[in-house]
Amino acid sequence: MIRINNNYNRLPGNYLFSEISKQVNEYQTKNPDTSIIRLGIGDVTKPLIPSVIKGLHDAVDEMAEASSFKGYGPEQGYAFLRELIATHDYSKRDVTIGEDEIFVSTGAKEDTANFQELFATDIKIAVPDPVYPVYVDSNVMAGRSGDYLNGRYANFVYLECNQENDYLPDLPKEPVDLIYLCFPNNPTGQTATREELKKWVEYARSNKALILYDSAYEAFIQDPSIPKTIFEIDGAREVAVEFRSLSKTAGFTGTRLSYTVIPKELVIWDETGKAYELNKLWNRRQTTKFNGTAYLIQKGAASIFSDAGKQEVQALIEYYLGNAKIIKEGLDALGISSTGGLNSPYIWLKTPKGLSSWDFFHKLLNEAQVVGTPGSGFGKCGEGYFRLSAFGERANVEEAIKRITNLSL
Ligand code: MLT
Repeated sequence: MIRINNNYNRLPGNYLFSEISKQVNEYQTKNPDTSIIRLGIGDVTKPLIPSVIKGLHDAVDEMAEASSFKGYGPEQGYAFLRELIATHDYSKRDVTIGEDEIFVSTGAKEDTANFQELFATDIKIAVPDPVYPVYVDSNVMAGRSGDYLNGRYANFVYLECNQENDYLPDLPKEPVDLIYLCFPNNPTGQTATREELKKWVEYARSNKALILYDSAYEAFIQDPSIPKTIFEIDGAREVAVEFRSLSKTAGFTGTRLSYTVIPKELVIWDETGKAYELNKLWNRRQTTKFNGTAYLIQKGAASIFSDAGKQEVQALIEYYLGNAKIIKEGLDALGISSTGGLNSPYIWLKTPKGLSSWDFFHKLLNEAQVVGTPGSGFGKCGEGYFRLSAFGERANVEEAIKRITNLSL
């Protein structure tokens, strides 16, 4: 008899964004004439930038000729792209990352979800609360969670982020082995200073722990004092893996390209204390389970590092940050307190009148036809909070704020 992986029985019924999408689709079916404004999932709305389109077209032409056609590519990504990433994302910030420390992939979602495969089942995991649900759910699937009680899995250590600590988690009070961090943060929009990151790097070094650092939103950092990569911190090469993505940077949510940086110094151990290089282990995993990101997409991605590409990316980021400003100012005018939205595309707000996150979701959907994301979907500490995404079209963002303002809140 074929049997289920029982860990799947510990998961919530639906993945957060699938549940939202289901509820919104049901509402639209019942109310076909309403125009719904979606500021829920962080999905971009602006088209790909001209440099990327040119890169993609050129690559299509290459694929049409026998002399330049490509079949399977390197599982780790083409050298031309890894070189550009190493130079523009790292060397130019005085951070040394070798090309062979970069693994090109199809999304930070899949890489952050898959990476836990390299670790023992009984390691101790620390996750912020609220948190991007992928880190939690993928570890539940792998059997690390224990039972789910009162909004928490028994075996995970939750790093609470709330108004009191300015949404910056404290170090864990008990030893942990694997720490997930995301800055600029999804969902709170909070960023981490150099001092803050130093605290985590030191903790990981003293505890032989590993940090999985999700940097998918780094392009939104405009304040030069905020680190763009955890590798700006001394010692981070010994304790951190960094995940980057073009999804939000260059509008690749539907095009799919990300990269994961694994310094050669990183090791993990077996029960006898024998060390294993993480870079080699991930390479072993990827060469077995992944056949590389499409050549066409990698060529398109490479174009963002040209002078024109960089300017176009910056314009895109400024557009979305402009939306974030409109949202924040609208909320301020309503007396609704919020965080994020400055060096981040997410605005994290306190629900008015003490409404629960889902009650506020339904109120906005039913009365204003505006979709956001209930904070409680990101964890227990998210209850009473709500996330708005700045990735909409400008006119829609303005209209959404107008509709929210017209509600009696
Ligand atoms: C989000 O809305 O949190 C993100 O778009 C989800 C993702 O990147 O997978």
